[in-house]
Amino acid sequence: MKERIESLLAEVQNFGSKTATEIEAFRIEMLGKKGQITALFNEFRELPGDQKRIFGKTLNELKNLAAERVQALKEATEEQTVQNSGLDLSRPANFSQLGSRHPVNLVKNEIVSIFKRIGFSVSAGPEIEDDWHNFTALNFPEEHPARDMQDTFFVGREPDWALRTHTSSVQVRVMENEQPPIRTISPGRVFRNEAISARSHCFFHQVEGLYIDKDVSFADLKQTLLFFAQEFFGPETKIRLRPSYFPFTEPSAEMDVYWGLENERDYRMTKGTGWLEVLGCGMVDPNVLKNNGIDPEVYSGFAFGIGVERIALHRFQIPDIRMLFENDLRFLEQFKAAH
Ligand code: DAH
Repeated sequence: MKERIESLLAEVQNFGSKTATEIEAFRIEMLGKKGQITALFNEFRELPGDQKRIFGKTLNELKNLAAERVQALKEATEEQTVQNSGLDLSRPANFSQLGSRHPVNLVKNEIVSIFKRIGFSVSAGPEIEDDWHNFTALNFPEEHPARDMQDTFFVGREPDWALRTHTSSVQVRVMENEQPPIRTISPGRVFRNEAISARSHCFFHQVEGLYIDKDVSFADLKQTLLFFAQEFFGPETKIRLRPSYFPFTEPSAEMDVYWGLENERDYRMTKGTGWLEVLGCGMVDPNVLKNNGIDPEVYSGFAFGIGVERIALHRFQIPDIRMLFENDLRFLEQFKAAH
């Protein structure tokens, strides 16, 4: 045994290959399951006690030396590979480009999270809609001007299909599939055939809200919207409801929040009133409930539609709605810090 240990020791000391495959082959030859050093250990186990004492130490030294040799040679070849590759390891790392959230999404997400906190679910509908879901079920009279070619993008030759002009169409889809109590908000993109300017675009985003149950009153609507306004704009925020008209609500209103009139920009933004128009709302018209299979004698409800861009423009002081959709990185990168 002594000679075999010594001859292996010499072999390990003399081994000096620089190629990874040879080093690995050597490792297997010596230390692998069927390797020579492993075989010596197996024999060692059979030796009588006094012999064990003699060979134990040297055998262990042989094994450690072989393992160290293999490790050192491996590291040397790896280093060599890096050096030959021409890589500069002292160069600072490239930072990966992080994206930022779009201002429209920032506002939309915040609106959604506020209503989720008071038990609203989130629902969605298609952007291409038929006349029934976008207009008829929502109590639009047959000759209502909103159905005009002026406002609506029709799809293909079929006059029944169009890009939805508002997210109120999702109300109809929810009512088709659910019975009250219904409490849902529907964020989404809408389209209108309008001239593009600093203030209006041919597509934008709305968040629709719908609440139907027994005994829902206008007071519930006002309190829900006040909660939203104070969560979104701050706890001291004041709101006012101005009478308005929508075919699908009766009575209808528009909600303004008090923005203030401290400087010239406030004057411009609020047209000198201090009030900012934020959304349309009202009590769901009994005809709409009936059209969608809900009994207006038993149930009542409210609905509202929030314009996302309008709020985003004010919140981030963006002077032109077109900037939102130009995908100019110099613009978008400014929102990196905002959530
Ligand atoms: N759909 C309306 C629009 O696009 C917004 C709206 C007003 C939605 C009143 C509603 C509502 O649900 O009750 O201008």
